[in-house]
Amino acid sequence: MSDGHYFEDDPEIESSPHSVEVTLPDVSLSLTSDRGVFSADKLDTGTKLLLLEIPSLVEATTILDIGCGWGPITCVAARRAPQADVWAIDVNRRARDLAATNAESLGAGDRVHVRAPDDVPDDITFDRILSNPPIRIGKPALHDLLLHWLPRLTTDGVAHLVVQKHLGSDSLATWLEGRGYPTLRLASRAGYRILEVRRTAIEPGETA
Ligand SMILES: C[S@@+](CC[C@H](N)C(=O)[O-])C[C@H]1O[C@@H](n2cnc3c(N)ncnc32)[C@H](O)[C@@H]1O
Repeated sequence: MSDGHYFEDDPEIESSPHSVEVTLPDVSLSLTSDRGVFSADKLDTGTKLLLLEIPSLVEATTILDIGCGWGPITCVAARRAPQADVWAIDVNRRARDLAATNAESLGAGDRVHVRAPDDVPDDITFDRILSNPPIRIGKPALHDLLLHWLPRLTTDGVAHLVVQKHLGSDSLATWLEGRGYPTLRLASRAGYRILEVRRTAIEPGETA
């Protein structure tokens, strides 16, 4: 990629901020994006599917967005879960700045915590994790990333990940199962899977 990878820590490409619309049945936001971040010019198709398919966030109290980019998932989560603290992490400094600015523009700057991954306090757990994860960092790094954050789910917490089928969603689901995280395919649309990953198995007869 001539203009660098979106997951660089500090993109060198010249900044050119612009508006991006996030339009969903329940939420419409006009946010700011920039060059040097993932899906800089529009809401990513996979991210949109994730936001369309996930169960209600109304009761969530602490949400984590792994790889927040310019913040579409973070900002929609903050809107849908007006009581929740939303933690948004990314290695890309420009993405973090955008996500923080966008959260601020929604009036949610006090409960949206945008951080570099190492700057999240160790004692915080999450009842919901949402992510369009950085598949392109490669399988070993992706696995390390998930094994770092999934143990931070509360006991009855749940993670939703969107992954393209041709980028290995089904093998990722199998791998997660093998690591002890019950994983089901919540939805399958337009070449994407929404994986639902739990911290602990649901016993027969229980409801989620
Ligand atoms: C597929 S993009 C999704 C961005 C945004 N959530 C969206 O839906 O538009 C994945 C993001 O993960 C970030 N990322 C890469 N490695 C990471 C890591 N180790 N920890 C946290 N974020 C990471 C990238 O910089 C990128 O912004």
